[in-house]
Amino acid sequence: MARKKKTEKPEVAKLILHGKEYDLPVFTGTENEIGIDIGRLRDMTGAITYDPGYMNTGSCKSAITYIDGDKGILRYRGYPIEDLAGKMRFSAAAYLLIYGHLPNEEEFLEWRRALTRHSFIHESQINFFDHFHPMAHPMNILGSMVSSMSSFYPYDAEDPNHIDLNIKRLVGQVKTIAAFSYKKSIGEPFIYPRTDHSYAANFLRMMFATPAEEYEVPKVMEDALDVLLILHMDHEQNCSTSTVRMVGSSQANIYASISSGINALWGKLHGGANEAVLNMLAQIHADGGNYKKYVEMAKDKKSKFRLMGFGHRVYKNFDPRATLLRSVLDRVLTEMGIHDPLLDIAKNLEQVALKDEFFIERKLYPNIDFYSGILYRALGIPKEMFTVLFAIGRMPGWIAHWLEMRADPDTKIQRPRQIYIGPTIRRYSPA
Ligand code: CMC
Repeated sequence: MARKKKTEKPEVAKLILHGKEYDLPVFTGTENEIGIDIGRLRDMTGAITYDPGYMNTGSCKSAITYIDGDKGILRYRGYPIEDLAGKMRFSAAAYLLIYGHLPNEEEFLEWRRALTRHSFIHESQINFFDHFHPMAHPMNILGSMVSSMSSFYPYDAEDPNHIDLNIKRLVGQVKTIAAFSYKKSIGEPFIYPRTDHSYAANFLRMMFATPAEEYEVPKVMEDALDVLLILHMDHEQNCSTSTVRMVGSSQANIYASISSGINALWGKLHGGANEAVLNMLAQIHADGGNYKKYVEMAKDKKSKFRLMGFGHRVYKNFDPRATLLRSVLDRVLTEMGIHDPLLDIAKNLEQVALKDEFFIERKLYPNIDFYSGILYRALGIPKEMFTVLFAIGRMPGWIAHWLEMRADPDTKIQRPRQIYIGPTIRRYSPA
């Protein structure tokens, strides 16, 4: 498809169906991604597109995150991830994602104050923790608690100030809910957030401090968590973000939309992969460290086994988040003096898979979740909490997309069509 000069007629894509030709408008994004607008396809031709998994379908125009999967590029609001992760606190990057620009000093201080002020869970809601099943997965608790926030904080959906207040509650409270669910699971008292701690330090303190003694958050842990949260912050139209947009398109409230995203994230092909990676590494370790056997299993079409933490729908070269995380992981393990046998297995697995024709052909590389689990483990975070950490990081992304979806004049309730393949008409005759 040749690119046209400004003076020429608007570019179109030609579709020939049943011998008739149709013009479909074409538009180009700021990074030259080409979109074919099929919005009137069914009206014009009576046909619809078929694209399971939306491999080729753009559901919206977005100005939040840019990914080039072939070149391994990830940018938030235009800023390369390498310029943000490790260079600023998570709360500053979250502000960038949600409000579209980096905060000045005053905006940052106000934002940080607001996040701490709104990080306290409603005292009546705290009782909810007593009523979950003792074995409840923390992702289940997180989704339910966020969903129930809508009954504690009903808001006027037409008032931007109300929406903004609830955004601060969501970002502020998600880490408190997460830490409280952990404390509940180990039977320890809740630790409340403090105004003099960063976002990441507050979370770590709520997880690991006890009322019995002072707890100083190790800087190496605070810095590593900041990087992890920033790397997880957004990834354009992934499964959970698309879920948030889809639920929000019905004009469901922000809490209902985001709790749906949390549930979508939980699946092991998405955010649940970090926990699955660790389970896999532990299984290989228990199996005498025979990682080659698992590489063979992953290649065997008869087996359902996949190498968890490998492959990505968009990245077909390398996952830039994985590259950044690997260097943070090495630093943390050295500084904390940790030697993790599971990391040795991970490194061996990575080396074998990267040289194997099966993985090369299919462009399967380690993704962010291949390393994040080992890093969480080094920080002392139990594996059931890994996906919860992903959700804390992803919260600003979900919010930014929910806001963008609401402000977009093209937004309609999301309602895909289908190609019906069931029986044609059948009659029921009562006996
Ligand atoms: N191990 C072995 N084979 C794999 C793997 C894997 N991890 N991933 C993909 N393949 C094979 C797959 O069998 C298929 O082979 P063939 O063409 O012979 O049928 C081919 O590669 C393409 O796979 P696909 O399932 O069609 O690709 P997809 O884009 O639909 O799936 C994915 C992407 C991430 C779900 C998949 O690679 C996978 O299941 N990976 C493991 C789970 C994982 O690590 N998920 C975390 C993703 S990163 C965090 C996030 O953003 O959610």
